[in-house]
Amino acid sequence: MKSKNDHRRFPFIIGFALAIFLVVSLTAHFATAQQSNTSLTGNWAVREPRADGTVRLTYFNLKQEGSRITGSIRVTQFYYLITDSTGGPEGFTITGTMKDGKSDRSVKYEGKLVGDELHIATRRRPDAPLTEMVAHRAHLGEGALPARIPPPALHKVPDNGLARTPPMGWNSWNKFAGRVDDATVRSIADAMASNGMKEAGYLYINIDDTWEGGRDAQGNILTNKKFPDMKALADYVHSKGLKLGIYSSPGPNTCAGYEGSYGHEAQDAHTYAQWGIDYLKYDWCGARTLYTDEEMPAIYQKMGDALSATHRPIVYSLCQYGRLDVWKWGADVGGNLWRTTGDIRDSWDSMTKIGFGQNDLAQYAKPGHWNDPDMLEIGNGGMTDAEYRTHMSLWSILAAPLLAGNDLRSMSPATLAILTNREVIAVNQDREGKQGTRAWKSGDQEIWVRPLSGGAKAVAFFNRAGGDAKVSIHWADIGITDKSHLRDLWLHQDVEWPGPEYSVTIPAHGVVMLRVSR
Ligand code: GLA
Repeated sequence: MKSKNDHRRFPFIIGFALAIFLVVSLTAHFATAQQSNTSLTGNWAVREPRADGTVRLTYFNLKQEGSRITGSIRVTQFYYLITDSTGGPEGFTITGTMKDGKSDRSVKYEGKLVGDELHIATRRRPDAPLTEMVAHRAHLGEGALPARIPPPALHKVPDNGLARTPPMGWNSWNKFAGRVDDATVRSIADAMASNGMKEAGYLYINIDDTWEGGRDAQGNILTNKKFPDMKALADYVHSKGLKLGIYSSPGPNTCAGYEGSYGHEAQDAHTYAQWGIDYLKYDWCGARTLYTDEEMPAIYQKMGDALSATHRPIVYSLCQYGRLDVWKWGADVGGNLWRTTGDIRDSWDSMTKIGFGQNDLAQYAKPGHWNDPDMLEIGNGGMTDAEYRTHMSLWSILAAPLLAGNDLRSMSPATLAILTNREVIAVNQDREGKQGTRAWKSGDQEIWVRPLSGGAKAVAFFNRAGGDAKVSIHWADIGITDKSHLRDLWLHQDVEWPGPEYSVTIPAHGVVMLRVSR
């Protein structure tokens, strides 16, 4: 039964409940306000639009506990763990080190919270000025590493029958990097088709990184604004009697932070085939955060299978910088060539360090499957013509792919002459496909010999010193035991047989290259 008093108490109960509700909701409100306005905790995204319509992404997934900031940083395809921090919302620094522990690469940012924004700055190279950016709050999972797809079991990918001699052509990266676009590719194809390079054997026009857009709703890879119609571009390049190559990564992102083929391998291979692509360079980069080096063969096999399933002849170029002795398994996963080193630079040091470091790999090169000491820098301006002749000679002795990396539309006659030296190219393209090796070395002078078909040999006398050098040898010391026909491949003239000994003066950083035959 209700008493009279129940009636009178009712407004008090309501009032009390209201007061409790107000206190709780206000506390909650201030708590949220504190989270969003005074704490660094949360996921922050920097979106920097590129001119090609794509976006360069950086994420800061931060947790602030007192004066300690932990969490992770993702810069395009690179994932870092925050290992060090100072300060707080009013001013902080964070240092991230590579999450996969495979490199000591690190990043450092300084920043502060300004209202709802994180103002943050970093040096993209140690000597570069500060790059400032603004991060906004993002959804928690955004920018996180995608789930790992387990690598497939290993099997042998059938030989595609391509690249019986080392591929010859051009690649956009060394000269143009992110500035390559449709018009550039077309005009490079025009140049190659008309300047004598095509006749000398150059065939592939390869677009490197930065052509990629995102994906459509069905997951199909899209091109970005720089490449409005890849199929039309392929048709154009084919109309010049040349072939078109493209680039991707087995990771979610490429080295330059563009869309990779991760989880879309078969779909991408199919798209490439539909476009009329003839060559794929597949660059590890963004895959390093998901897979170990030991898993590389399985991951490369996946694209090898995907290309093979298209039934289109597509040269398969592995680019993983020579890790895990790729020369021992590159052919088994369908590779026609595999990079053996890190990136070449347009300098004498870089080129010679790479080129003269290939001696032990000779046994792994054979028709269809080549060691790739990276693309040519000939004509890019960082070396002298003598040094570029050394580059061309060494790459030919090494049976290396000859992928010009310069601007073919505006090169000097000397550069063109180096790239189109047919006698040197004939060495590179020798059908037996045997890679040459170092036969003799004394100080800065080295002699490399490559066996050629018909019992002939290419012999290159290199001088790595900064002054001219005279080399005298007994032919027998480098395996030449009979009187032979000698041809100087740079002077384009026969050399009289000098008898059992031979002396030659080699210019500084230069080469004398002979064909020795019966
Ligand atoms: C890596 C490769 C280079 C080039 C760039 C593109 O560094 O080794 O040859 O493809 O990526 O981002």
